[in-house]
Order: sequence, then structure tokens, then C-alpha cells
Amino acid sequence: MTDSTPRHIAIIMDGNGRWAKGRKLPRIAGHRMGVDSVRKIVRACGKNKVEVLTLFAFSSENWRRPKREVTLLMELFIRALQQEVKSLNKNNVRLRVIGDLAALPPKLQELIASSEEATKDNTGLTLVIASNYGGRWDITQATKQVAQKVLNGEFQPEDITEEIIQQHTCISDLPEPDLFIRTGGEKRISNYLLWQLAYTELFFTEKLWPDFDEADFSEALGSFAGRQRRFGKTGEQVENA
Ligand code: IPE
Ligand code: IPE
Ligand code: MG
Repeated sequence: MTDSTPRHIAIIMDGNGRWAKGRKLPRIAGHRMGVDSVRKIVRACGKNKVEVLTLFAFSSENWRRPKREVTLLMELFIRALQQEVKSLNKNNVRLRVIGDLAALPPKLQELIASSEEATKDNTGLTLVIASNYGGRWDITQATKQVAQKVLNGEFQPEDITEEIIQQHTCISDLPEPDLFIRTGGEKRISNYLLWQLAYTELFFTEKLWPDFDEADFSEALGSFAGRQRRFGKTGEQVENA
């Protein structure tokens, strides 16, 4: 891995519905095809020695969709977990799921727990799936934990730092996302990792998620490699460092 390879890639997998609509298929057919893209990109991340891949599977706002689509999405997630854990283990992938999991169907919650447990010792790619996740929810749950610690007398409000908030957000033990990819043409963050994306390089593509393949992934990596990350400094400072 060189400096020009992102350690952590976060993706909004968008465009499944439009992919299906374009083929006069039900939306769920697009979601099903999307699982194939997930498999491809997980493999590509492994090959490129990416350390963390975080995928947005279901947002806290996606409950607003028709009930039938929500149910089918939950069932698809259940089936994908049942089918993929073996191959995750074979490929040394560690699975983690983030989000407000208590609101998910109990059967899915159990499967998430057992799949995380079954893959926890793997040392290759960490695959993070965001399900019933929202960036505002994440910051809110972090705030609640910090407030509780203040109540417990662990520290005073004036001692709260960015580091303390950060430590209570999801995946704070992992490197922050270096590269964000959104497929499907929309140019928005849609309440994804709001805290974590503060300095992430953004890449948007028109490609719909079911069509997103290794060549598109390479294009995103190429775009990332050509950028200068300044983190507030001047270009000269970065070049001379
Ligand atoms: C993204 O695809 C997948 C989920 C939100 C679960 P969409 O279902 O949003 O696809 P479009 O945006 O309608 O094409
Ligand atoms: C974001 O996609 C959530 C996921 C990909 C899971 P949406 O398609 O739901 O986003 P908006 O609502 O169009 O911004
Ligand atoms: Mg969408």
C-alpha cells in the first residue's frame, strides 16, 4: 500500500431502483443486483490492500419507503448474511455493522451478532455495513454517552474535546474515511458519516450501483491518487514535508 491508496473507503451505493426501472423490473431486482456489486468491490478492496470498506446499506431515512420495499430490503440483508459469511471467512474479511440496530427485525439482529462473532478474528479487510444508520443519529448517540459520563462525574463539560466526541462515534477505532464514493449521480451526503467525512476526498459517478465494477473502482482510486490532501495547510507546506 502506498500513500496514494486509501486506507478507508466509504460508499453510498445508490441507483439500484433506477437500474431496475430502466429494465422494467421491480426495484428489488436492482437491490439484488447490487449485492453482486458488493461482492465485486469487496474483492477489489482486498486486492488493493484497502483496510476498511464502509457501505451504506440502509439509512435512517429509508424507513420512509413503501413498506413492501423496506421488508424486502431487510430480507435481502438476512439472505446475504446467511450466504456470505463463509466466503467472508475464506477471504479473511472481518464484518461489522453500525447503526441503530435495535430497530431492525430481531432475526436480522441475531444474524448480525453471529456474523460479527464468526468473522471477528479475521485480519484482512474490515467490512463495515451501515444499516439504519444516520450521521445525525451517530453524533446524537455519542453525545448521550458523553453526557452520561459528565453526570457520572468522569469529567466536566468544559473538558469535552473533539477527541472525546470522536471516541464515542461509530468506528472511532478505525482510520477515518480517505475516499468517499457515491454512485447513481446524486451529489449529496444523505446523512451518511457526517462526523467522519470531515476531510474525506469525495468522488461522484453517474454509474448506477449495480453497474459499478472494478474498472469504475479503479477510476475512483486513480482520481484519489491524483489529489493533494492539504488538511488546512498550503500546497507548499505539503510538498516540502
Ligand atoms: C440505493 O438505491 C439502495 C438503498 C437505498 C437501499 P436506491 O434504491 O436509492 O436507488 P434509486 O436512487 O431509487 O435509483
Ligand atoms: C442513501 O441513498 C442511502 C443508501 C444508499 C442506503 P438514498 O437513495 O436513500 O438517498 P436520497 O434519499 O436520495 O438522498
Ligand atoms: Mg437512491
